[in-house]
Amino acid sequence: MRRAISITVLSTLAGLAQADDTNPFSCNDFLNFNDNPAQALDQLNTSKETLSWNWFNCLNQPAPNGLDRVWETLKPSDQVYLADGSKPTPYGTPFIPPSEVTDKAAKIPGMNLKRAFHNLNATLQVDGLPLEMGGSVPESQRGKPVRFQLLMSESTFDYIVDQGVYNMNGQDALTSDLYFPATSWEVKAGWLWIGSDSAYQAQLANDGYYIAQAYYQNKDGSYEVGYAALSALHVINKLVDGWVWTTFENVNNPKYTVTNAIPSQPMTNSTGPTPAAVPVNAQFQGWYKDLSRYELIGTQLQTSPKLLANSQLESAFQSQSSCFACHGTAAYSKTDGYFNFAQGGDAGQGGIVYPTEPVPESEFKGYNKLDFVWSLKRAQWQRP
Ligand code: HEC
Repeated sequence: MRRAISITVLSTLAGLAQADDTNPFSCNDFLNFNDNPAQALDQLNTSKETLSWNWFNCLNQPAPNGLDRVWETLKPSDQVYLADGSKPTPYGTPFIPPSEVTDKAAKIPGMNLKRAFHNLNATLQVDGLPLEMGGSVPESQRGKPVRFQLLMSESTFDYIVDQGVYNMNGQDALTSDLYFPATSWEVKAGWLWIGSDSAYQAQLANDGYYIAQAYYQNKDGSYEVGYAALSALHVINKLVDGWVWTTFENVNNPKYTVTNAIPSQPMTNSTGPTPAAVPVNAQFQGWYKDLSRYELIGTQLQTSPKLLANSQLESAFQSQSSCFACHGTAAYSKTDGYFNFAQGGDAGQGGIVYPTEPVPESEFKGYNKLDFVWSLKRAQWQRP
């Protein structure tokens, strides 16, 4: 008996330093809430920040292929909303980047053609502006934009295919609101472009950035191929009807990204880490060395907290950023197109105001609601 007690005490002490012995959270089937949504809801109600970090950690575990992280194997939106509006290939279909990309990658030291290549074509944020790199970035990257991408889980994807809303034709034919399954997940990732500058890559790795392989297309159609550093990750899922809204970023982002003021200032986050996130960050950063330079900014349920933003993804409109309220306007009307969440007014950036409270249902007459999923805006009309 005596002996059993002292072993418990010892292992508790050891647990403070060693994560995986202490944290009972199972990553086995976390994308399906380990088949126990009631338990997940309970965890959400106990500490939504702890659950958010557990999800973030699980998403960053090695994928079955041993090369990528789990979240990198989700389906990117450019493989869902195809340029010609055709039906996407099933979830999990291997993706082969354009041959120009693989040819260039083969000449870059350390690149592995079996690892994921992220298509980072997107640079304009929701407000139509890019976030510029600056500060401690090399001269060649100064003023260039932070890049981002959207990815979705199997449940999200299958629902989009089942409803036929992967193209505009399907969205235009809707006769009722969309309602995604509870196991739907979506991710939006922000990246600092590195290219093949190995000194800069080592500097970012030293600052705790996760580094992956990526490419984007130039205006002339040619491809840029190189490394990129993960600066931000939005993670959302539908454990609750209004979705759970979480966002993470690297603590060193202010060293590498700048505001659009003249002269520019380091870009910082004005919405968090929230008081509830602070101790949870310290705990998980101590546990997981690979993630120790990432922090949870906050977890939003409905309008609590009122504002939540990522400095890398809602950079210039953080003071008006409510994930829940803005995504709650995701809606489409045959006559008016997508709902316009940018309302005119004096309070906002250049007279634009984004919703920070739910927009009244009466404003959605004639619209079908898209269940918070704004990526559907990327759908194209089908080409014959
Ligand atoms: C003012 C409106 C607005 C705000 C505020 C906002 N978003 Fe978004 N979000 C969008 C739009 C529009 C897209 C689609 C962007 C695109 O296609 O490039 C999007 C895309 C996303 C995606 C990709 C999948 C999808 O379609 O839902 C995620 C995940 C996401 N946002 C999470 C968040 C989180 C978390 C927050 C708060 C921290 C947030 N957003 C704040 C408008 C907003």
